[in-house]
This record gives sequence, structure tokens and C-alpha cells, in this order.
Amino acid sequence: MVGSDTSPMEPIGTGPSGDARAAIEDFYVEERTFPPPASFGAGALATTRELYDAAEADLEGFWAKQAESLVDWFEPWERVLVWDPPFAKWFEGGKLNVSYNCLDRHLREGRGDRVAYYFEGEPGDRRVITYAELAVEVNRFANVLKDLGVNKGDKVAVYMGMIPELPVAILACARIGAPHSVVFGGFSSKALESRILDAEAKVVVTADGSWRRGNPVRLKEGVDAALENTPSVEHVVVVRRIGEEGGVQVSMKPGRDLWWHDLMASAGTECAPELMDSEDLLYLLYTSGTTARPKGIMHTTGGYLTQVAFTHKYVFDLHPETDVYWCAADIGWVTGHSYIVYGPLANGATSVLYEGTPDYPDKDRWWDIIERYKVTILYCAPTGIRTFMKWGTVYPEKHDLSSLRVLGSVGEPINPEAWIWYYEHIGGSRCPVVDTWWQTETGSIMVSPLPGLSVLKPGSAVEALPGVRGEVVDDEGRVLTRGGGYFTLTHPWPAMLRGIYGDPERYKETYWTRFPGRYFAGDGAKVDGDGYIWFIGRVDDVMNVSGHRVSTTEVESALVDHPSVAEAAVVGANDPTTGQAIVAFVTLRSGEEKAGARGEELRAHVAMRIGPIARPKTIIFTDELPKTRSGKIMRRLLRDVADGHDLGDTTTLADPEVVDQIRTMAEERLFAED
Ligand code: WT7
Repeated sequence: MVGSDTSPMEPIGTGPSGDARAAIEDFYVEERTFPPPASFGAGALATTRELYDAAEADLEGFWAKQAESLVDWFEPWERVLVWDPPFAKWFEGGKLNVSYNCLDRHLREGRGDRVAYYFEGEPGDRRVITYAELAVEVNRFANVLKDLGVNKGDKVAVYMGMIPELPVAILACARIGAPHSVVFGGFSSKALESRILDAEAKVVVTADGSWRRGNPVRLKEGVDAALENTPSVEHVVVVRRIGEEGGVQVSMKPGRDLWWHDLMASAGTECAPELMDSEDLLYLLYTSGTTARPKGIMHTTGGYLTQVAFTHKYVFDLHPETDVYWCAADIGWVTGHSYIVYGPLANGATSVLYEGTPDYPDKDRWWDIIERYKVTILYCAPTGIRTFMKWGTVYPEKHDLSSLRVLGSVGEPINPEAWIWYYEHIGGSRCPVVDTWWQTETGSIMVSPLPGLSVLKPGSAVEALPGVRGEVVDDEGRVLTRGGGYFTLTHPWPAMLRGIYGDPERYKETYWTRFPGRYFAGDGAKVDGDGYIWFIGRVDDVMNVSGHRVSTTEVESALVDHPSVAEAAVVGANDPTTGQAIVAFVTLRSGEEKAGARGEELRAHVAMRIGPIARPKTIIFTDELPKTRSGKIMRRLLRDVADGHDLGDTTTLADPEVVDQIRTMAEERLFAED
């Protein structure tokens, strides 16, 4: 039983289960359970299975009710769901504006003085921004964009650090109906370039730089490089974050490049929100797939806003009048889109927005922030938690963390050890930990406990949320009620992706063909005897590094792009801190030297092509790569090499000697990061 009340939970799965066979081996049995702390239960928004029951009885009626209560509509919808598999429309015919819902509505209802963001810059500068102040900035920037010729439907690329101008820019886009495409500020200019090209962005919003561990990251420089090959871009708007006194000088191209503060100074403070259809595009967000070409994931307005507002409210048990909420992700990822910007603002929440790294100026920066702002809800990634574990409890112990009441986790499986550490040392054993599973594509949290209700098991995301239908299936697509398999979704959900920009076929192929009639997310999962879901990582060739998806193919392409590389095979090896670490097996062109310096050069090359997140941790030079007779690289074997496991039966290898060689090389680790 998943809930803490006494009603029995429906068994997971509706299909035949008799013949289903576990497709992925069980790994680990975790037996500790944690009911909601007594102190927590009473005031919680959900303490019974009422929401689950309502959604179970009438899924569309359930979402319609949420859409009515959480979102303000200019015109009502005609149909809740139009499902033409695999294409869904939610709240068809409904009209709304997302920025109106995040701002104007709160002003109209007397919440203008509430703090929207406590901004904390890495150097220690601070800004308190109320809803009323945020609204003025957004209206101004919406007018700026219009004056630059951005019309409804035009795409705007945004490439900046975590400063208040970032949410301002994207809300302004939402206000005028110009879909934004935020490119994570840690990505390289090449990555930015390909995303600008794919979306044909008309304007780029950026900053001179962003602070990271006391040093400026030169963003405008990256934009300049990207823009050499992007004819669609007419203007670049540049926020001055660092300034010349911070050591960053930018060159402004006359006619093209404009300073944010110049434009804002003369912009009007009122811009009427565009009437948007529920199915109009709100944004594109690019994510890695199994091929080198990133996918522009499309999200629309009505269904998306409904589900992110719903999940933000119930998963974190949000009490917007009193909570101080902090999602420590970057707005460049979907977590930030849904749970720093749209969900919290739609719900009128007060959030912390932090620019920098957790170890600047010291390793207690986060705990200092929590103490000072009296943060009540913290949402972060397991990779961060494992790093904090490594640093030790002395840092959190220096601070009063007693304001915390809910802890969230996202991005990758959280191992029970990290869960317990988070629960004890950060949450003081009094805060439920909500392990939230979702993806860029799902737009919104899909599988998660509810903190006032679920009995938690460390490492389990527990069960599909109300209004979400998830099932674990075997290789044949038969529903598993117990054991390991593939996690699938059987019913469309409001915040689901509407497709891959410009490529409907790829959308069908990627998500809907492996198991007919089901959305397959690429994740393995296990169901235990109590119906709990345990995610166990990706089953495709996508690595999960520090909670971010990195495609093996993309890294391989970047390596092969280097003139001295002949061939490359990339795998994700288990890594205690980052979840997976990128290990690259590289064959060089003849005559090229396999020295350590070459390894550094290749790592830098990948970082330049894709971004520092994709920089291989280890490069192993080898004369040949292990391949099957049909020429397929044997990734599993390479992963084993990388993980230091036994290689087992290698008779399918074209050249068995390679294995020995690779193994030796791996042991020697010609080039390793640490
Ligand atoms: C992939 C999606 C969702 C925002 C951050 C990443 C993995 C995410 C969990 C979790 C186990 C998780 C999955 C998923 N993942 N949350 N709670 N437990 N795995 O978004 O870049 O689209 O990556 O992250 O593998 O497919 P993303």
C-alpha cells in the first residue's frame, strides 16, 4: 500500500500480467519505510487518496477541474482532450495567457507586494523582487521585444545565467506569444548555434557574462561565435551582469546588438497580454536523444500550465502565503522552466533564485542561503546531494536549517544512501523527501510521492501522480505488477510534449513505436511487491551525468570531429558523484600520439563542441574498438571495462584480443580527471 490511509491501492497495470516476465534484473531491496512525520500531516494539502480516486474515476473531469481552479482563462475550452494518437490537444479552444496567469492575476487579487524572487547573486549581491515589480519588468521587456519586431510565433533564443532578467525575458516572450528557446548558459557556442538554426530564432537575449565560482563565464562571446552562421538572428539584447569592472568587455555589433538597460529605460510599462490558444507553442527546449541531433521539445500553454501548477502545489505541499521555496536547478533545464518559473509563479509562490555554485565562497553557501531566507521547501538533484555527502556534515551543521519542511529530488535515481543522508542531515529527520520522476518531454512531474500522504521508501519515486497513468512492462509490452522492466505511460497527460519541432515522424518513432499504444520514456523501472516504482536508469544510449541527459552519440560525434581521431565509442560508467561519468574509447588516426596531452586536448574539444557537461571524465586510447561481426560497437562490454567488471564471454567479438588490450588500457587509465 502506497498511501498512509487505509484504502487499498489499485494494483498497477490494467493489461494481462500472467505471462509478463521481468525484463531488467532486480537490483536492490530497500526495506526501510517512512510515513509522513506526525508534525507534517495535519496542515498538508493532501492527506487522503481523494485526488487519486477522483482522477481514477474520471481522468478528463479531474484535469478540467484542476484547469478551472489553477488557471485563469480568457475564454473557456470546448473539449478537454482531443486524442489522435500520438498527438494530443488539451483544453481545445481555450484561450489564456501564461504570463497573465503568473503576474497580472496576482496583482488583481491583491498579491502584488508578495515576493516573487529573492535573488542572490554569486558575489553576494541581493535583490528582492515582488510580483508587482516583476510584472513591470516583464511588461517593459515585452514592449522591447515588440519594438524589435518580434511578433506572435517568432522564436527568441535566451542564453544567460541565473539572474532575474532570465525569468523576465521568458515571461515577456510568453506575454507576446513568442516561443522562447532557452539554451543552458553552460553550453558551448556550437550548441547554441545549432539550436538557433533549428528554431530560426529572430532575437537572442544574453548577458555579457555570468558569475561562476568567482569567475565570469563570457556568454556574449559565445553568442558572437554562434551568430557567424545564423542568418535568422536580427538582434541581440545584452544584459550587463559583469561589466568592465568585473573584467568582461564585450564588442557590440552596431545595428544588431543592443544593451538591455538602454532598451528598458525607454520601454512602456504596459503591454497587453496576447490572447493565446491553449495549443499555441509556449516554448521549445532542446534535449539529447540517441542521435547527435538534439530534439526541439515542444510545449504549449493551457495543459502545460495546468499540470505544472498542480504538481508544484501538491508535490511540494505548497502554502504560498508562508512558504519560501527554492529549486536549485538552472532555468536552462526543464526543471527550471517548470519549477522555478511557470509552476511557482502561477501558484503565487515566493522563490529563491541563486546564480552561482554551491561551493563559492565556501562549501556551505546553500545552507547559508537556506538559513537566511528561511527556506521551507528545497528541490535539488541527487548529484548535488552526493557532492554534499562527500564534503561532509560539517557544512550543513554550521547553519540553522530548521525552516525546511519538504525536500525534493530530481534528475536521476537517488540511491538510498544519499536519500537517507538528505533526510537526516538536511531535513533533520522531519521532512518528507519527494523523489520526483519526469523528463523534458513530460513537462511536469509524473511519478512522485505526496508528502502528507505517502509512506516513503528511500530510492523509490513511489507511484504515478493523480491524473497520470504509468505502467511497467516487459520486453513484449506486457504489464508487470512486480519485477523490472520499462516504464511507460498509457494515457496522454496535459503537460506532455506536443512533438519534436519540425519532425513529427521522429516524435512518433522516438516515443511511441517501441511499445504500441504506449509512450516509452527510455527509462528502466522496477515494481516491488507493494506496487512502488523504482527507476533504475536509462536503457538507451543516453547517459545521465549530474542529472543531465547526454547522448553517447553526440559525444562520439564531437570526438570524431577532432582531426586526430579515427573512431570513438562513448559509455556512461557508474560514478559515485555524478551518477554516470563519460568514458570515451578513442582510436587515433595513424601517426597520432596517444599522450596525456592529447587526452586533455580531446576533452577540451568535446567541451567546446557541446559544453563542459559533456567533457569526458576519462579517455582511453585503444588501437581498435570491440565490435560484433556486423560492426556494432559492443557498448555493454565497454561499459563493463569502464566499470572494472569481468568481461565474460567475448566470443562474439571480431577480434577477441582487443578486449585484453582495452582492459589493460582501462586499468592504466591513460588519462583520468581526478
Ligand atoms: C531523465 C530525464 C526531469 C528534469 C531533469 C532531467 C532521469 C529524472 C528522475 C528520478 C530516476 C530520473 C530519467 C529521465 N530522471 N528524474 N526522480 N528518478 N531518474 O530532465 O534531461 O529530460 O532527463 O532523467 O532517466 O528519463 P531530462
